[in-house]
Amino acid sequence: MTPILEIENVSKRFTKKLDAAGKIAARLGANIREETVHAVDNVSMSIMPGEVLGLVGESGCGKSTLGRVVAGIHPPSAGQLHLDGTPINDLSAQDKRRANLDIQMIFQDPSSSLNPRMRVEDIISEAPRMHKMVSGASETSDFVDDLMRKVGLDPVMKRRYPHQFSGGQRQRIGIARALAVKPRFLVCDEAIAALDVSIQAQVINLFADLREDLGLTYLFISHDLSVVQHITDRVAIMYLGRIVEIAPTDDIFSTPRHPYTRALLDQVPRLDQRKQDFTPIRGEIPSPLDPPTGCHFHPRCPHATDLCRQNAPQLSTVLSGHMASCHHLETLGV
Ligand SMILES: Nc1ncnc2c1ncn2[C@@H]1O[C@H](COP(=O)(O)OP(=O)(O)O)[C@@H](O)[C@H]1O
Ligand SMILES: [Mg+2]
Repeated sequence: MTPILEIENVSKRFTKKLDAAGKIAARLGANIREETVHAVDNVSMSIMPGEVLGLVGESGCGKSTLGRVVAGIHPPSAGQLHLDGTPINDLSAQDKRRANLDIQMIFQDPSSSLNPRMRVEDIISEAPRMHKMVSGASETSDFVDDLMRKVGLDPVMKRRYPHQFSGGQRQRIGIARALAVKPRFLVCDEAIAALDVSIQAQVINLFADLREDLGLTYLFISHDLSVVQHITDRVAIMYLGRIVEIAPTDDIFSTPRHPYTRALLDQVPRLDQRKQDFTPIRGEIPSPLDPPTGCHFHPRCPHATDLCRQNAPQLSTVLSGHMASCHHLETLGV
């Protein structure tokens, strides 16, 4: 089977240019330079049609940036994306436009991504009208009603404004807006993180239902491993711009191999643990402006050796479908 999406050696760097004052100060000998953030560092992975892939890691590790590259919001600095086996860059202009609609993004904060001055019906129908996917008042009205029902909203509310809805309902509006252009792939970036805990499960269920009904594929981004446990088929663990482990979800939770994944799992409170003694990962997450040499995790890793300080480990297969990047996988055991 061909992956719906293949991420091939994708990197994304942001360079912060010096402003006028900075340029003058630099010329006068001040120690300021242009700074480059390596937000995503040579990531490769593929996602199969209908799959739900989780992307997990601490804040600032590059999850949103990778999601935005996948959704076509940021062009990659290096590497490329393949859709259905074809590099997106090689597509005709028309196919590229369709590819852009095929992959839609759902954001964390529905309030800030919905225009407060637009009625819900206009928010939902804006993109399909622009792309001539619907025309005429009655067709548009039916289209909006149908989408609102699909995401669990009552169409009688379609003339209301976003502030007249609850947080969970606003996220449903955001989902309806994304679905309006008939995407095949959703990038959900912390899509439930801003919601009340009681509402989170409802929105997760909605994602699961939509997957069944519409055959959607998901890249499900979260800083919280426990959130992805029940919804994903596979999980990729990201640390400082790189994927350090990727495996079927059950394997990530039962037999994590990378020391970073193990540390993340230690932070997840488990029902079967009466005593909740958290062992937070020691040290701070280093700055992506100045990442550590070798394995990015070595300054925080209890198993680090000189090899780890000098050479970056590659992702290698530990079991069919389970890959991890660590120099000491053999000695660490299962
Ligand atoms: N548009 C941008 N311009 C400059 N730096 C950015 C931009 N977006 C993200 N970054 C930087 O890239 C790194 C990764 O950020 P992000 O992808 O948002 O991480 P995450 O979603 O995992 O919290 C951070 O250091 C962040 O400051
Ligand atoms: Mg983010």
